[in-house]
Amino acid sequence: DKGNYRHYMAKEIHEQPEVVGRTLAHYLDLAEGVVRLPFDLNCDVKKLSRVTISACGTAYYAGLVARYWLERFARLSVEIDIASEFRYRDPPLPEDGLMIVVSQSGETADTLAALRYAKEHGQHILSIVNVETSTIARESDTVAKTLAGPEIGVASTKAFTCQLAVFACLALALGRARGVLTKERERELVTELIAAPGQMAEALNREAAIEPVARDVARASSVLYLGRGPCFPLAMEGALKLKELSYIHAEGYAAGELKHGPIALIDYAMPVIVLAPPDASLEKTVSNLQEVAARGGHLILIGSPRAREAAAAELAGFVEIPETVAGPFASLVYAVPAQLLAYHVATFMGKDVDQPRNLAKSVTVE
Ligand code: F6R
Repeated sequence: DKGNYRHYMAKEIHEQPEVVGRTLAHYLDLAEGVVRLPFDLNCDVKKLSRVTISACGTAYYAGLVARYWLERFARLSVEIDIASEFRYRDPPLPEDGLMIVVSQSGETADTLAALRYAKEHGQHILSIVNVETSTIARESDTVAKTLAGPEIGVASTKAFTCQLAVFACLALALGRARGVLTKERERELVTELIAAPGQMAEALNREAAIEPVARDVARASSVLYLGRGPCFPLAMEGALKLKELSYIHAEGYAAGELKHGPIALIDYAMPVIVLAPPDASLEKTVSNLQEVAARGGHLILIGSPRAREAAAAELAGFVEIPETVAGPFASLVYAVPAQLLAYHVATFMGKDVDQPRNLAKSVTVE
């Protein structure tokens, strides 16, 4: 049932404040303002030195965002790879290690193979899945479910932000268990996390501002997305959504890599979409933006008012995200304009967003 929406994808994008809130409530003790995982990790988390993550597509990008959180909050190093590479690399894995696989469907063939490889190599398997009855869930030692509800649109949206919500809680729980986070710091971070669904709702309210930007992007034949820190994987996710739905070529790059190659592509025609939340890397991201501006690039900024002011450049488009969307979990909120942009570009071009060509919702073959 699409409710009042034209497409499942629109409905699923708009459901995010609710389902992310529901997912957080499952992993947090809201009264106490702390994390409370509804399962035991069944491994000695104090002894862990690293964790391994594997997944495909959008679920892999969720893992890339989570790497920042696991490193920062739990001081765990993270080995992460796409499942189709991981399984054939014959990677050495630590004794009694923790392997996290991420999958909306729980049926992705490569992710399942990565899980089985890790299991054979003595890893404890934690899966973050949306379909609890799936093969991946059944073969895991511990299942952390996303409470996104059924995702019908082929492009993953609400499952992605719910995966981020689970990862955020997991990183905080591991940080506590490993003695990295004090209870006070945990409370502060949980407070920030709890604010995310409301901020996502605010971001959804900016939808009308995204439509003119989408009409502009729809004329392009290639688009570059730039971000730093947790917004770097989000740049790749934004690019993936755009290519899947609109069939426009797009790439996501770490903003700092710009001058190592892609800057050669800059011209007046190729939109460069910069994700710039007000965090410690803002200044650096803005200087990358200015490098694009100085070469007559076609700039679109998704960022806070302060980012716009700092940019001091001519913009072809600006999607304003409130200044208060800051801190380590801003990427949860910045996912929303990235999804909406891809959605509106594709619908403006008359593409079938719920059923893009050549794609299947669940990839059960290699
Ligand atoms: C992108 C998308 C795919 C999936 C990938 C993994 O919008 O939907 O990239 O994320 O095929 O699927 P799951 O999460 O079911 O393992």
